[in-house]
Amino acid sequence: MNVLLIGSGGREHALAWALSASPLLEALYCAPGNPGISAFATCVALDVADHGKVIAFCREKGVGLVVVGPEAPLVAGIADDLSAAGIKVFGPSNAAAQLEGSKGFTKDLCTEAGIPTAAYGRFSDAAAAKAFVARQSVPIVVKADGIAAGKGVVIAESHKEAEAAIDACFSGAFGAAGAEVVIEEFLEGEEASYFALVDGVHAMPLATAQDHKRVGDGDVGPNTGGMGAYSPAAIVTPEIDRRVMREIIEPTVRMMAARGMPYVGVLYAGLMLTKDGPKLIEYNARFGDPECQVLMMRLKSDLLTALVATCDGVLDTFDVRWHDDVALSVVMAANGYPGTPQKGSEIKGLDRAAALDGVEVFHAGTRLDGDRLVADGGRVLNVTARGRTVAEAQARAYEAVRLIDWPGGFCRSDIGWRAIEREHGR
Ligand code: AMP
Ligand code: GLY
Repeated sequence: MNVLLIGSGGREHALAWALSASPLLEALYCAPGNPGISAFATCVALDVADHGKVIAFCREKGVGLVVVGPEAPLVAGIADDLSAAGIKVFGPSNAAAQLEGSKGFTKDLCTEAGIPTAAYGRFSDAAAAKAFVARQSVPIVVKADGIAAGKGVVIAESHKEAEAAIDACFSGAFGAAGAEVVIEEFLEGEEASYFALVDGVHAMPLATAQDHKRVGDGDVGPNTGGMGAYSPAAIVTPEIDRRVMREIIEPTVRMMAARGMPYVGVLYAGLMLTKDGPKLIEYNARFGDPECQVLMMRLKSDLLTALVATCDGVLDTFDVRWHDDVALSVVMAANGYPGTPQKGSEIKGLDRAAALDGVEVFHAGTRLDGDRLVADGGRVLNVTARGRTVAEAQARAYEAVRLIDWPGGFCRSDIGWRAIEREHGR
């Protein structure tokens, strides 16, 4: 089978790495790809916003499956247009991608299906939103309804701060994403990422992970796209896992099908594990980044077969197997991130790092400048390692980090700390 993968980050590098191991794979194309992905795929400069061009490319190359990495093309309806053209696509329709694209849509679906989530209100004007906030206790969470590049969520410690967040939203700080706000009860607990494949009707759990969103050691400082991750998340016990499937994922899948917008693809649930059980914080219509990198390191089964089974609606007769090992990924970011990252600094030593046993270095934001590899984004590398324990995977990942010669970048030094404390019974 010929496959077209859409995306250019570390998530897509990990997907390309896993797809390339499939006995079913003939040719792998990636649009636009990156220097790491080019070891496994033919990278093509295809404008993925032009769905007609993507369809023409698929026809010319005999592409049997398109795998969409990021959310933007999904929200733009690429899956709808490919499906209409008779091309198999892994990723939800524009309507189904509302689970990520509109927080209000997801909250209303939770209410209708009885899915545990934070209590909330939806507002399209500032006065009504403020009147609601005045009646709630703090902290309280103010969110832009749409996709705001991870910046649309404010955890307000005071009523004043909540009002400022509401004003920011309605004054256009997040563009169209802020035309509506969702105001939510603050949930207390530990967060975990949960992934399931969904074929429209059936859901099959994949694996769990935890990521580190804050830029600094000890989980302090500004939020980022994710500075590192590990899988599995031991805090998601088999009992919690069953509850997540029964109380959150399965009712969502049923409700989406009943509304005539069946969900096909990977469903990523951001969970808060509260004292009252798991609650949904948000959905994403794609794999997490860098969670995907650690999932792919642990996947024993053939990824391509699993993605095709998802598209074909046969997940009820399907299962995937995992390595018992833990996988852990350290994100190396360019100096300046999560503010403006300094681009163009040279990176050396990747071959040495990747040669370590059980280590893969995924490219997230790199570019070739002649034959020099240089930083080309905020999050630049995902140094990923397997180990029998989180501590072992962490030690290996940092051994690899030390072999990378890149003065223009930095990373956290404590990825996995909470899980390691738990391993040590602290
Ligand atoms: P979201 O984009 O909805 O995932 O929100 C980003 C982050 O804000 C989450 O990963 C949580 O850390 C935090 N967050 C969002 N909603 C809540 C909530 N209701 N209670 C506590 N923390 C939240
Ligand atoms: N790592 C968080 C995300 O992919 O949204």
